[in-house]
Amino acid sequence: MESETQEPEGGDTGGQPQSSAAQQPQPAAAAEQPVAATVDTPVATPVPKRAVLTRRLFILGGFWTTLSLALVGLVGPSLNFAFTRKPAGAAREVFVSPERIPAPGDDPVVIAEGRFFLLNLEAGTTPNGEKTDGGLLALWQKCPHLGCTVPYRSDFNFLGRTGWFRCPCHGSTYTKEGGILVAGPAPRPMDRFSIEVQEDNSIVVNTGVTVAETGAADNPSKTVEYNA
Ligand code: FES
Repeated sequence: MESETQEPEGGDTGGQPQSSAAQQPQPAAAAEQPVAATVDTPVATPVPKRAVLTRRLFILGGFWTTLSLALVGLVGPSLNFAFTRKPAGAAREVFVSPERIPAPGDDPVVIAEGRFFLLNLEAGTTPNGEKTDGGLLALWQKCPHLGCTVPYRSDFNFLGRTGWFRCPCHGSTYTKEGGILVAGPAPRPMDRFSIEVQEDNSIVVNTGVTVAETGAADNPSKTVEYNA
């Protein structure tokens, strides 16, 4: 007599619920089932990096740069020569209206746009002993020593007189009645510019390096008559 009970194989279970083990798909059965359709998701492919400066580009750049520099070197000086510019200090006329012209014996007036002082001397002998017929005199502000700009010092007292042109660089000192050098390392008195008096009593002063007149001890005698 057999005591073991036989499980029914497949098919009808007799209406009885199957056990959980029986519900699990067997591996063999899963392989036979149809594969679910898959969707291909596009994946971005990295773009290969391009070299910023290739050898070809480098050689070409070097070639054109060299050629351009050579051309500039050849043509540049000629163009520079052809288009001349007005150099600093070139001759230039400066107009001064009658209102800006000092009265005889007044302190010098600076005409900044022309870098000169305008003097109006009284006829006679200057306090420094030079003779003058009186009139206008234009003195360049540039110191004859090393070129510093010379100011007029109305408060500067020297040799018992007040009011001098005195260079701040090395102390050259010039009279206000003609720019005569009385002290300091400058080689000569202050340089002059020529003056033309106009019909309307204005004046034109010819300024610049090329037209400057070398200063000398007779500066006060170089005045231009002015009777406005
Ligand atoms: S530059 Fe004027 S004294 Fe030297």
